Amino acid sequence: MPVLDQQPRKLNKAMLRLQAPLPDSYVDASADDLAARISAAKATLGDRVFILGHHYQRDEVMAWADARGDSFGLSRLAADRHDAEFIVFCGVHFMAESADILTGSNQKVILPDLNAGCSMADMADIESVEEAWEAIGDVTDIGTVVPITYMNSSAALKAFVGRQGGAVCTSTNAKAVVEWALQQHGDATKLLFFPDQHLGRNTAYALGFTEADLAVWNPRLELGGLDEATVKSSRFLLWKGHCSVHQRFNVGHVEAFRAEHPDGIVIAHPECSREVCSIADAVGSTDFIIKAVRAAPEGSVIAIGTEIHLVQRLARETPGRTVVSLDPLICPCSTMFRVDAPHLCWVLESLVRGEVVNQITVDNETARWAKVALERMLSIT
Ligand code: 13P
Ligand code: SF4
Repeated sequence: MPVLDQQPRKLNKAMLRLQAPLPDSYVDASADDLAARISAAKATLGDRVFILGHHYQRDEVMAWADARGDSFGLSRLAADRHDAEFIVFCGVHFMAESADILTGSNQKVILPDLNAGCSMADMADIESVEEAWEAIGDVTDIGTVVPITYMNSSAALKAFVGRQGGAVCTSTNAKAVVEWALQQHGDATKLLFFPDQHLGRNTAYALGFTEADLAVWNPRLELGGLDEATVKSSRFLLWKGHCSVHQRFNVGHVEAFRAEHPDGIVIAHPECSREVCSIADAVGSTDFIIKAVRAAPEGSVIAIGTEIHLVQRLARETPGRTVVSLDPLICPCSTMFRVDAPHLCWVLESLVRGEVVNQITVDNETARWAKVALERMLSIT
């Protein structure tokens, strides 16, 4: 199969976020000094600022969050907070973009470290998706293809999906969104699902599909590395993207945990592989995981297949249950980890000085269509 592009891909805009180094007064500050300064800046800004913390954030950041949540929940919280002039989004870039799309024009969304991206979201760029769309259209009726993008994607991809009649989904509502998509053109419907093949596959299986209905689209190969007949017959074309954090969990981890704790409970995020999700006791988003741990019977031992900061926080904050990582080796999200107390302190103190740094903005045209795709999701779920 010919490889389209042996050279490193052109860096797209999403990959060119560059965070300038912080002044020494932040880098060299002690934890106590930073905490005192963050507290003072937050008090000075009062209701003008609203700090959001994704569940994967470090404790030194979460301590200052006015609200915690999963990727979509936080965007909605931002949208509901009309009075806050500044939304400081302690999470990653695609989340801050979604917040900017959903908030009013009077509000500014700030990402404390511009290099806090998402490697999975960067695996599908708009140029590759448009190329794929054209290539699929060359061999099949594109009018029957519904594009679905996971929340973990750039605003440009959400806008593409909005324009092409598709919808966004999150790990919580993927099943409902995919069910909706499958109804759009009856049995002829085909889904192009990006960027996470695992969420796509796990959702397809949850709806009764099997491997025979799925094909993985490799954007680096001609026609996704597939033959024409496969593109025509597959119901799901799954983008070859993954989360490097969740892909680490494997069947061996589940078996080792169950050998040690025969009554233990395994909960996995749907970005984990099909093999892991198929043998887990429960599968769901970060919010789902938190609720499932709290609902587990007293005395339960629970292994979680997701990012370590959430697992460790749950272990500390859930009395009467033992919570461990499914992978005994630490498994952090390196981009989430970029947001730390020095960066949070820097953006807040800049706001106090009247300087807005690291604002995340989505241009009006992209935001308009991305909002169509987001609102379609909301109307489905
Ligand atoms: P949630 O939508 O469950 O918060 O997940 C976001 C994410 O990046 C998981 O890796
Ligand atoms: Fe992206 Fe994975 Fe990090 Fe989530 S855990 S933000 S999917 S790299």
